[in-house]
Amino acid sequence: MTPFRLLMYLALTFTFVVAACEDSSSSSLDGEPDQGLTPPNPEEIQKIDEELALISRGIQLHKSMACVACHSLDGKKLSGGTYVNMYGTNVELEDGTIVERDEEYLRRSILLPSIDVVKGYPDAMPRYDDKLDNQDLDALIALIKSVSEVEDDAEEESTTEEEGTP
Ligand code: HEC
Repeated sequence: MTPFRLLMYLALTFTFVVAACEDSSSSSLDGEPDQGLTPPNPEEIQKIDEELALISRGIQLHKSMACVACHSLDGKKLSGGTYVNMYGTNVELEDGTIVERDEEYLRRSILLPSIDVVKGYPDAMPRYDDKLDNQDLDALIALIKSVSEVEDDAEEESTTEEEGTP
């Protein structure tokens, strides 16, 4: 056998072995669970589902409440700032104070924008305290978070706190 043929032969055998393995693992679906795969955690899946539903509601509100006219989701600066990295970062206000844009701040800035006016922008955003309920706010904030790179510390901690709690 020439080295080339030997290689071809090995490659073919390998393909058959892989195919055979795939067969046996797929047939194990109706028998025992496949040991190579960790079964997805239903709680995790539900959490992600809820998160996605919230964000998708946020996108709807972003359009129906006209936020889209002044705020972008892709970094573009319109008459208001972009949502990109709006959560978790610091911003300077008109009076020179620097505040961290946490959830509390975002809520206030959406409901009553005139309380903290961002430096360099006009106090031109309409107030939404009479147009949005708490769930709407959660959805819009989830949307802003989804395009911000900063990790949500509170969530991070809650997933790792098991070790620390007595
Ligand atoms: C007519 C334009 C306009 C509309 C509509 C508008 N905004 Fe604004 N928004 C602004 C401007 C201008 C600012 C900056 C001045 C200020 O802080 O009030 C701002 C500021 C903000 C801030 C604080 C930004 C920061 O960088 O700290 C948030 C959060 C925000 N808007 C969210 C929203 C959401 C959510 C909606 C829709 C429910 C919305 N805005 C609708 C113009 C608008």
